[in-house]
Amino acid sequence: MERTLVILKPGCLQRGLIGEVISRFEKRGLKLVAMKMVQLDEEILKVHYAHLLDRTFFPWLRDGMMAAPVILCCWEGYSAVQVVRDMAGATKASKAVPGTIRGDYSLSAQENIVHTSDSLENAEIELKRFFVESDYCEYKSPLDPFKYAPDEY
Ligand code: PPS
Repeated sequence: MERTLVILKPGCLQRGLIGEVISRFEKRGLKLVAMKMVQLDEEILKVHYAHLLDRTFFPWLRDGMMAAPVILCCWEGYSAVQVVRDMAGATKASKAVPGTIRGDYSLSAQENIVHTSDSLENAEIELKRFFVESDYCEYKSPLDPFKYAPDEY
């Protein structure tokens, strides 16, 4: 099963959308295996957004991500990286289609509700950035046979 990182951004928290966004991932059938609320700082954001350090918008993005706590989630499921990315919708939320998280709750490229890992390789790197092994909860889901074919889980 794949695992991917979702960061519920400060705007998601401040606008009271955490429950709705988490509920979408749950209803899709994804399994929550780790979650924590943290205040991000400049040091970790410079690493997390290292590929964007030279972009003019980096200071705004950095400050936006420090404006309130975030919720870090690890979601597990079949093809979870792409499924979560598709559910989030386009980064530039004004172009995100209705039915996606960004398409339903945001208009901005920066204040776009969620960060999601963009590949399996980056999901592994990002999860290691924010979680240690003891943060993960291993538990059986009795509903797996109702969610998946035998070769999917
Ligand atoms: S880009 O422009 O293609 O390199 O960036 P992209 O991969 O689409 O987005 C990466 C993160 O940068 C944020 N972003 C912005 N912030 C502020 N202003 C502008 N114009 C802007 N464009 C992109 C965007 O929210 C992405 O953050 P994450 O946390 O990955 O969603």
